[in-house]
Amino acid sequence: MIKILAINGSYRDDGITDQAVHKIAQDLVSAGAEVEIILLREYPIEFCLNCRECTQKMGDSPGKCVQHDGMEELVNKIERADGYILASPTNFGSVTAIYKRFMERLIVYAYWPWDINSPKFRKENVLKKKAILVSSCAAPGIIGRFMYETNKQLKKTAKIIGADTVGTLFIGLIAKESHQALPEGAHKKVKTLIDKLLDKNN
Ligand SMILES: Cc1cc2nc3c(=O)[nH]c(=O)nc-3n(C[C@H](O)[C@H](O)[C@H](O)COP(=O)(O)O)c2cc1C
Repeated sequence: MIKILAINGSYRDDGITDQAVHKIAQDLVSAGAEVEIILLREYPIEFCLNCRECTQKMGDSPGKCVQHDGMEELVNKIERADGYILASPTNFGSVTAIYKRFMERLIVYAYWPWDINSPKFRKENVLKKKAILVSSCAAPGIIGRFMYETNKQLKKTAKIIGADTVGTLFIGLIAKESHQALPEGAHKKVKTLIDKLLDKNN
């Protein structure tokens, strides 16, 4: 059974990001996939220490962090998954702080010994998995999608963990009610995204 891991950087229970991730997860399960959702707001992850201990040894597998927190298990889950849903609201033009904290810990996916200037990503030449991205903002979707860093950061996450981005759900105009429901258009887009993630069109 295909295993999909969803990583959600929203701060709010049942906000638009939670609703979108749930809808995608439900439909994936109906299509026969296994889905696990990680809510970063409930996950014990410390900040990266920039010590680069994890980056010194060469190889395809993630390096070992000196910190033994929830990230250890999360990296194992990332390694075991066949595909990903990466999700975050837009706060001040970027992914949320908890998402960024998670992202920085993905430095375990880099080989970066002290004598070279920039990292080489371990999964760059490895067979690619697939990812879909979910993000939201108060601005109209088209502005958010191209003006903000959120999408680029989610896409970069996919690349670092060895996945190609095969689709994006970007939900704009999330501001006028404290509890907005997922728009109809988003419901429709989910089917296309699922087909892409499960490779139904190839
Ligand atoms: C601290 C903060 C900063 C925000 N910054 C932006 C922003 O720069 N641009 C934007 O369009 N929306 C911004 N928003 C609106 C959020 O993107 C919107 O509330 C979010 O998509 C809701 O996601 P959620 O329902 O999953 O919590 C901000 C909201 C907060 C609380």
